[in-house]
Amino acid sequence: MNQFFDQPIPPRIGVEVEKWDLMGPNPQPGVVPLSVADMEFRSPPAIIQALEEMARSGLWGYAGWSDRYYNAIRSWVSRRYGWDIQRDWIIRTTGVVHGLNAAVRAFTNPGDGIVIQTPVYPPFYRAVRDNGRTLLENPLKLVDGRYEMDFDDLEDKLSRPTTTAMILCSPHNPVGRVWTRAELQRVGELCLAHGVFVISDEIHCDLCQPDHPHTVYASLGEEYAKHCVIGMAASKTFSLAGLACGNMIVPDGDNKAKLEAEVARSGAYSNSSFGTLALEVGYEQCEPWVEQLVAYLRENDRCLRDFMAQHFPQVWIAPLEGTYLSWIDFSSFLLDDEALATFLEQEAGLYLSHGINYGGSGFMRLNLACPRGVLTAALERLLAAAQRRGLV
Ligand SMILES: Cc1ncc(COP(=O)(O)O)c(C=O)c1O
Repeated sequence: MNQFFDQPIPPRIGVEVEKWDLMGPNPQPGVVPLSVADMEFRSPPAIIQALEEMARSGLWGYAGWSDRYYNAIRSWVSRRYGWDIQRDWIIRTTGVVHGLNAAVRAFTNPGDGIVIQTPVYPPFYRAVRDNGRTLLENPLKLVDGRYEMDFDDLEDKLSRPTTTAMILCSPHNPVGRVWTRAELQRVGELCLAHGVFVISDEIHCDLCQPDHPHTVYASLGEEYAKHCVIGMAASKTFSLAGLACGNMIVPDGDNKAKLEAEVARSGAYSNSSFGTLALEVGYEQCEPWVEQLVAYLRENDRCLRDFMAQHFPQVWIAPLEGTYLSWIDFSSFLLDDEALATFLEQEAGLYLSHGINYGGSGFMRLNLACPRGVLTAALERLLAAAQRRGLV
């Protein structure tokens, strides 16, 4: 029993939690959703205590601008990723998606081509389309059971005269890749050669497995840093997703001014006071908790793989290098996307994120950030439902 991650979580039906609400008003008793990317784990005790004190105070003014917040981020990224940043590179946003949308508007013009690497987190599609830019897909390719970038196709897309930006998902949601330094360097060389700005979403960077260390795109070199922004947050790391707190880190002064102006134009110029305090305490005090979390996620991944290999050997699961998101190919069930979702939800009580929404027909994304007992119960339900259907 892990003292943090095996704790039972009470059902959260009808209490303003998106992941639970997505199951509808009357989900089957005992079913825990494994979809939206937040965790069924409580935040570290030090964060809970700090937020309890803040809650009890009853005084929740706008978040301030103290050095503490900026120093917590600077120390965290320097310690963990060897990236030394300045306080005035940091722009606070209500979340990384807010920052991505602002970056699209700040660094590209309407109609410009923006490259994304699919399948990918659905708000990337929206950040391009909803801002009136042109979506250019650079599909990832499966090589020997692992997703890789298709650099020939990438160069083709980046070299088009109307392409001005690329949104990088690093580590990648949903395929679970942690891009190597060499891969990122190659992306950077191509982007620099073709004058393409990089918007690098690194929100999952703290959840990489030890044999797959994260490289911050901007840390690759000065030229790379000059032509990019990095999105980061403490929300995935410490179970704070609802606290509306993200950061865009922009090493170049002119770029920083442009993005800051765009964030201001969006009308949401800061982040929440609860999220601010949680980030400070998390980055200052809770690194050992994150180490345990990453190890626990690896065991959940192993548990999923062992079960599936035993009962569903025809189902392929992408190797998990980082994130807590498992990308699973259910195409051997021979169900179309709608029928697959209906089967999993209605017959197996398994609420996953639909791969089709990411650009992956036949796939589902399973959130591994839950107590192991929740995961094994979900897998047992899947097996029983598949047996009833004659799928195994
Ligand atoms: C790649 C990626 N970026 C951003 C987000 C959400 O960030 P925020 O809640 O800070 O807007 C997620 C959440 O799943 C994500 O996977």
